[in-house]
Amino acid sequence: GAIYLADYRAPDFLINRTELHFHLGEEETIVTSRLHLLRSCEVDGTPPLVLNGQDMELLQVSIDNEPLAPEAFEVNDDTLVIADVPEQCVLSCRTRIRPQDNTSLEGLYRSHSMYCTQCEAEGFRKITYYLDRPDVMSVFTVTIEADPDQFPVLLSNGNLFASTTLDNGLQQVTWHDPFPKPSYLFALVAGDLEHVEDTFTTAGGREVTLRIYVEPKDLGKCAHAMDSLKRSMRWDEEVFGREYDLDIFNVVAVDDFNMGAMENKSLNIFNTSCVLCDPDITTDQGYQRVESIVAHEYFHNWSGNRVTCRDWFQLSLKEGFTVFRDAEFSADMGSRTVKRVEDVSLLRTAQFTEDAGPMAHPVRPDSYIEINNFYTATVYEKGAEVVRMIHTLLGPERFRSGSDLYFQRHDGQAVTCEDFLCAMEDASGVDLTQFRRWYAQAGTPQLRVRDRYDADARTYTLEFSQSCPPTPGQPQKQPVVIPCAMGLLGDAGNLPLRLRGEPVDAETADNTHRVLIIDQPSQEFVFENVAERPVPSLLRGFSAPVRLDYPYSREALCQLMSRDDDGFVRWDSAQTLAVQVISEVQEQLATGQAASVDDMLLAACAQLLEDATLDPAMVAEMLTLPSENYLAELAGEGAADVEAIHAARRAVQQAIGRELAGPLLARYRELEVTGDYAPSGEQIAARSLRNLCLGYLAGADAQHLALAAGQFAAADNLTDRLAALRVLACHGSEADWQQPLSRFYSDWQHEALAVNHWLTTQAMMPDAGVIARVRELMQHPAFDLRNPNKVRSLVGGFAGHNPLNFHRADGEGYRLLREAVAELNGINPQIAARLLAPLTRWRYYRGRADLMRAELEKLAGMEDLSPDVYEVVTKSLQ
Ligand code: ARG
Ligand code: ZN
Repeated sequence: GAIYLADYRAPDFLINRTELHFHLGEEETIVTSRLHLLRSCEVDGTPPLVLNGQDMELLQVSIDNEPLAPEAFEVNDDTLVIADVPEQCVLSCRTRIRPQDNTSLEGLYRSHSMYCTQCEAEGFRKITYYLDRPDVMSVFTVTIEADPDQFPVLLSNGNLFASTTLDNGLQQVTWHDPFPKPSYLFALVAGDLEHVEDTFTTAGGREVTLRIYVEPKDLGKCAHAMDSLKRSMRWDEEVFGREYDLDIFNVVAVDDFNMGAMENKSLNIFNTSCVLCDPDITTDQGYQRVESIVAHEYFHNWSGNRVTCRDWFQLSLKEGFTVFRDAEFSADMGSRTVKRVEDVSLLRTAQFTEDAGPMAHPVRPDSYIEINNFYTATVYEKGAEVVRMIHTLLGPERFRSGSDLYFQRHDGQAVTCEDFLCAMEDASGVDLTQFRRWYAQAGTPQLRVRDRYDADARTYTLEFSQSCPPTPGQPQKQPVVIPCAMGLLGDAGNLPLRLRGEPVDAETADNTHRVLIIDQPSQEFVFENVAERPVPSLLRGFSAPVRLDYPYSREALCQLMSRDDDGFVRWDSAQTLAVQVISEVQEQLATGQAASVDDMLLAACAQLLEDATLDPAMVAEMLTLPSENYLAELAGEGAADVEAIHAARRAVQQAIGRELAGPLLARYRELEVTGDYAPSGEQIAARSLRNLCLGYLAGADAQHLALAAGQFAAADNLTDRLAALRVLACHGSEADWQQPLSRFYSDWQHEALAVNHWLTTQAMMPDAGVIARVRELMQHPAFDLRNPNKVRSLVGGFAGHNPLNFHRADGEGYRLLREAVAELNGINPQIAARLLAPLTRWRYYRGRADLMRAELEKLAGMEDLSPDVYEVVTKSLQ
């Protein structure tokens, strides 16, 4: 059944201290808890104690060392209920679990030869009976005993307190974490691991030991993560005034992991794909991802751990804020504009679609069936956008004061998004009453802008109106606060801005840029003393997560692309121009005409390629055509025709490759990186533009496939090797890709992370044989349905990034996905539910809705449907 935010009640009992004892055996693990319980002073009467617990065998339960008689308690599928509990006592449970059989990868489980945990959100209840909710915070002491030959490394949160060898030969260690924490931040790791070590001295002079634990073969792949960690620690001191608070910080790399990583107190656990780096197994993008995820998890030490969430409806309190923090970190480490462009692209593809679909929910949801389904682009990415808007509204200094007040006021507490907003208001004096709607309303607001210029009065008027489409359970929306950063572009550059009704104050340093606050259904701004009709530069830096609707002419877009002060607007104008041109070509093709690509686009692309003063990374972003998925989403419900979108986009891509072959080839040659591989901003920029040029060239003219073949053979890093392989696989014939694909596998089969890229490359191929190939690969020794990275790479890669074949008219793509989800439902429900996302978009695809629904209905009719899959399927069919 569903759980509602409105039903929140504070806990009846607190657990001041938690002592856990783990005996890790070959066949079973025995967990013994001692919970120092206290009835909350806020409850009247003597409520029963209801502990959460799942998938385990209760061996004994006692209160103050007295075992309870069987009639004194009741064990259900997911609770242990004890009717009579003294006001204060020590409750002890002994349970048996089988981590080696736990394929859900929640709770305690086995990955290769190690044991590890994932407790967020509700995995702790698979380890022992507990008040498994984030507002119950406790000081943990954890003892682990295990065979030292198999598990020489035994880790948990906090400081190592004791370590001995027992009479029976087992090793026993005890860890103590002095900071009270909720159960979701508990972690345990046992394995035959090696580590790299470094140190960091905090601003306050604390010497912190940093360790990254990995399987021995991966010891050489930790340097980038370690370096990222140290830079994150320094950055959080400098930008947010946050220091680390223990003498040790551990990171462990695990190959079987449902998500990217987890911020367990002082014992972060990472998916190998988000921490290990090597030029031959990690792409440039991968290096950047590792940097940002290491930072993200580290930043959680304050935004998440020291101050945590009261309940899971508040998830964005820690995730939105922490994503904002990690994005600012990445922006400071590299190119701010490129980082912004990447994040907005992701938001528009993943989050806007989610917000327009059957699973749409507010940043702070009102209800859920399975909380694991709410670790979404909305909670994370839109949540971060909402924090970014607060930053924009308050300005950097007042935002920092708000953040300081939040951490100071709530240190050691489990709080709500409302508490965060109050701290921001109290420190800044800015009223965020109406702004709160961003947390409560789902759906992407639309910002419609129209303008008029009065040459005689020299005034320029911008009229704004906002609306937000209905979403499940929310038919009507209230206007939100939209900060719209803007400028006006004139013939000779950005014009000075003077708003009617505002005093003309002393010369301000930058009067060509400002933030307009749109908080009414519609409102008008009049600029005075405007000498010419300007082109409006709107939503600079993507200052609000909205869809902008302004009728830009192609001329205006080209102006903004080449001359606006704001890098984001330059990129966004290039995207809008490409969208316009692709849809024009789609119409031409639909009416039987030949594709004719607007010269204006070609000229703009040529200009970008030829301007050596531009950052090549930015040029690459600007020359990247909008994805087929994004174009489908723009088409709207019932209107996306995948084949037509693919053909139109491909025609534009080919025209660019053909018409600009000269400059593309020149840049391809000139951007070759000489010297050793480094994941530096400069090299990454060069490779990204160079490989984009290669794609255009080979996509237009098969002759250029030879360049790709040469690059594949010569590459000394995965980025270039994979880019070449993808070009061969997407634009070549079997003779072009057969041999390189098998070469790649034979060279890198021992590196799981490289093999995952090999799986994705094949899943994304456009040829009609791809479905048979994916099915074959699912039987390949390199594939394993139990490993989430492999599932995401192959099945997720196919369903998410091969729209042409996933949406085949015969429904075979849908069938493949449904079968994989059905099988995963019994193995790993969390991954099964996530994999389903592409099927939930059935309303968009013209002529496919019935086929897609039919697969969802088959899933709905399954026996033993997990709550995870049940929730996504039923909401999608409503
Ligand atoms: N808190 C983790 C992070 O964002 C993610 C944990 C996800 N867990 C889950 N069950 N979905 O860094
Ligand atoms: Zn997080």
